[in-house]
Amino acid sequence: MSTAGRAPLLHPVLRDLPCAALPPPLVTLTLQPGLDVSYEVERLVDDRKLHASRYRFDPGGNGINVARALTRLALPAHACMLVAGEIGSLLRRLVARQVRHVHATRIAGETRINAAVRQLDPAAQYEFIGRGPAPTPAELRGVIEQLLQLGGGGVVALTGSLPDGVAPTLYAELAQQLHARGSRVVLDMQGEALAAAVPRRPFLIKPNRWELEQLCGQALPRIADVRREACALVGAGVANVCVSLGAQGALLASADGVWRGLAPAVAVRSTVGAGDSMLAGLVGALACGAAAPDALRLGLACGSGTAAQPGTELFDPAQLPALLRATRVRRLGAA
Ligand SMILES: Nc1ncnc2c1ncn2[C@@H]1O[C@H](COP(=O)(O)OP(=O)(O)OP(=O)(O)O)[C@@H](O)[C@H]1O
Ligand SMILES: [Mg+2]
Repeated sequence: MSTAGRAPLLHPVLRDLPCAALPPPLVTLTLQPGLDVSYEVERLVDDRKLHASRYRFDPGGNGINVARALTRLALPAHACMLVAGEIGSLLRRLVARQVRHVHATRIAGETRINAAVRQLDPAAQYEFIGRGPAPTPAELRGVIEQLLQLGGGGVVALTGSLPDGVAPTLYAELAQQLHARGSRVVLDMQGEALAAAVPRRPFLIKPNRWELEQLCGQALPRIADVRREACALVGAGVANVCVSLGAQGALLASADGVWRGLAPAVAVRSTVGAGDSMLAGLVGALACGAAAPDALRLGLACGSGTAAQPGTELFDPAQLPALLRATRVRRLGAA
């Protein structure tokens, strides 16, 4: 199908890429979301009631962040999530302000609250992570059925931690079922869940360097080591392996070759959501048919754009053209 009729709906940065296709449905899953509450205080003092100079609520969870970032690229994202209780209702409302298609499956209990306290002087950050409810098998089936229905034939991002009581093989099973429905599966998770899902031939995985080291069971101090392991995963059937390297950018390997991307220099304010934003840029561009190096460039621009924003704020889409101009990608060779 030609992109001509619908192209103006896309963000200009995607319109400018030589995209060959309209994006299929882009679906994210968040099994363990949280309400992020952040406080800013001048200085923490023992045994004193402190008044925050600022505080805010944000929806938290990797899949939710990816959907928020895709929406900033004017891509049609669907965010599937488990929500519980009154906190879950608030979370759903906050996500719906930023993502057009929100699919919340209700479960018993209360969605967790995560808190972050930022002390201004001396600068320090404290984070507290809550514990979310454990879904029953029937509740889990509900969200899975919805995901399979929405994600059939589309691009589905499975990301983030699993709630208590859910088997670490769940993402691997979902990857297999989605694959059978013609979906392209994207994985961003760590540990056992990632190791179990990799043999299901996903479309893309995005470990950071540490997650790749865990996956292959060895330290990868040089870029050449990262490249070797990324290529081994491509050889094992993962179509695209993107290893994000924080301020050092990223490396992308696929059957078409290997590319090294250098992140644009930005004044870093908070890297929260940088990995999720990078994934959204990369996946959004690939879903539109962009070539690997162009997709890597957009991923880096989105990731670093988010690192330049405070707190949980994601990249500003208006700054993407300048960020893209400052992002370097070069081909290293064949995979
Ligand atoms: N300090 C930084 N300076 C510039 N860009 C950064 C920085 N940290 C992260 N980024 C950008 O974000 C992308 C993803 O970062 P990173 O490799 O830290 O992902 P991650 O470890 O998955 O992050 P997360 O903690 O969000 O899961 C990088 O490739 C880069 O584009
Ligand atoms: Mg990450």
